[in-house]
Amino acid sequence: QLQPVLLSGGSGTRLWPLSREAYPKQFLALSGDRTMLQDTWLRVAPLATLAPIVVANEEHRFLAGEQLRQAGVDGAAIVLEPVGRNTAPAIAAAALQAMAGGADPLLLVLPSDHVVRDAPAFQAAVREAMPAAESGALVTFGIVPEAAETGFGYIQAGAGQAGAGQAGEGVREVLRFVEKPDAATAQAYVDDGGYYWNSGMFLFRASRYLEELGLFRPDMLDAVRAAFDGAARDGDFVRLGKDAFAAAPSDSIDYAVMEKTDRAMVLPVDIGWNDVGSWSALWAVSEQDADGNAHNGEVIAVDSHGSYVWSRRMVALVGVDDLVVVETDDAVLVAAKDRVQQVKDVVARLKADD
Ligand code: GDD
Ligand code: MG
Repeated sequence: QLQPVLLSGGSGTRLWPLSREAYPKQFLALSGDRTMLQDTWLRVAPLATLAPIVVANEEHRFLAGEQLRQAGVDGAAIVLEPVGRNTAPAIAAAALQAMAGGADPLLLVLPSDHVVRDAPAFQAAVREAMPAAESGALVTFGIVPEAAETGFGYIQAGAGQAGAGQAGEGVREVLRFVEKPDAATAQAYVDDGGYYWNSGMFLFRASRYLEELGLFRPDMLDAVRAAFDGAARDGDFVRLGKDAFAAAPSDSIDYAVMEKTDRAMVLPVDIGWNDVGSWSALWAVSEQDADGNAHNGEVIAVDSHGSYVWSRRMVALVGVDDLVVVETDDAVLVAAKDRVQQVKDVVARLKADD
């Protein structure tokens, strides 16, 4: 059995002012008519033999429920976190939910805020990874790195047949998993050629993940178990016990499990993956006109190139290159396209002023 787990608890602060705590990017239609959560479901729906488990913050229960209903999801379990404790506890709660009826399905863990342009290739990759996961591996999906990004995990793969650094050679052993290395280390990995970016998607048996978490973070597993045992069920919602879940340590699956386990495997893939982690990433995946400008609404660009505009009102650009302009009801962002990582500093400052 294959059961998708849609992780929907992030806050996407680098896409401010569109993405907000109250309305983070997975619930937005950033590239097309459907929201990223809906696209994530539709991409995996042909593979799923069980209804998905969605893990989201309590605050977003209606957004998540309504968007899933609109996308035709029937019978999903929506596990609600009273507070965010990062992905390791969220996935543990999903695994406990998956096993609650005595089953032990393969879990396909998916971030709900990524773009995957080649859905058939993604589906073929999941099928290819299933035997390894059935035999007990924690399978990651590797992306051939384009730059020394520090916001990703890096996976060193055992040698393939045609050489390192390619997709299309099947599931391989993981020699090393390093989450978010510093810039110099990331550059060394890219130069080496034998490393992949971790796409943030995982395939493993529910019981296998819980076992590994129990090995490395028994404290976390115990706290999540207590929160799950104390959960209140109402319709599709599974509300984790508040105090117990709040007591769980906060950590990502990457640090808590993937860096430590010796059961990791990697399937290098070529699926048109983009994590849309910033406005420049969104520009890169959007349709661009002949001048390299991308926009969702009406834009008049005079002698302007390589810019991204999100707005409902008309925006005119004159003689500017490589800008990001985002206009919403209560805020306007104007940023250099190569500095958009610092948008999170704006959010930090807004929070400090609160
Ligand atoms: N339910 C829930 N609860 N979901 C969460 C939480 C949480 O507390 N925190 C994050 N998520 C969701 C996010 O919405 C996103 O879909 C996914 O889990 C991954 O979290 P991010 O916060 O976006 O992680 P990251 O981008 O810093 O790093 C991960 O993804 C990279 C690829 O984009 C890691 O897996 C890296 O190794 C990887 O390279
Ligand atoms: Mg991310």
